[in-house]
Amino acid sequence: MDRIDQISAAEEFVKQKISEYDSGHDWWHIERVRGLSKYINEKELFIADPFTLDIAVLLHDTVDSKFQKKDSDNGYNIIESFLDNTGLSGIKVQVVEAIKNVSFSNKNPSGNLNDPVFLIMQDADRLDALGAIGIARAFNYGGFRNNPIYLPAENLQGASKTTIGHFYDKLLRLKGLMNTQTGKQLAEERHRYLEMYLERFFKEWEFGLNVNKD
Ligand code: ADP
Ligand code: NI
Repeated sequence: MDRIDQISAAEEFVKQKISEYDSGHDWWHIERVRGLSKYINEKELFIADPFTLDIAVLLHDTVDSKFQKKDSDNGYNIIESFLDNTGLSGIKVQVVEAIKNVSFSNKNPSGNLNDPVFLIMQDADRLDALGAIGIARAFNYGGFRNNPIYLPAENLQGASKTTIGHFYDKLLRLKGLMNTQTGKQLAEERHRYLEMYLERFFKEWEFGLNVNKD
């Protein structure tokens, strides 16, 4: 199989795997993260091998604990088999290691900080959780789980049940966790947009609750 066929095979594999996820984790998320990772890699003067990066990004959400029925170790075996069957055993260890560590919800956030594929993929995935797209994805996921939008009594610094709480649990922390210079730069503007959004959200919330009170 040549590289074009390997990419096509990965695209088909991913589309089938993510079909039951919420639409914030749909094919367009994969395409955006692909584009972002390519952009970051170029700006960082190709620190990562572009082909390995593309394969890793394509496969990065095929095992997601949020949507996994069985224990997720099982899922990584599926990726390993896919890579073996597609003639990609040579990059298997690197790709699977990077994917295992990319998730923010990973219980033990770690990852090989010397692997540019991991560093860029993680930045690109995090950027898609920020800004206007990040807000859309957060509310989409919250809706998918039927989580409340916001509960005023909730402590916004703790483990949250609401989507607004998720901004504080995760989204506002991402800017400080970016790996590459390019990722950091892109995260700045998207982070500011979240802050502006929250300011507006609370303003409207308070207005709605207090407008008729004397
Ligand atoms: P990662 O892809 O790094 O594992 P997640 O899967 O936790 O990150 O998040 C992927 C997307 O789903 C993000 O856009 C994130 O904001 C959204 N998401 C995850 N958990 C929640 C939640 N509890 N409430 C709202 N959105 C969520
Ligand atoms: Ni992702």
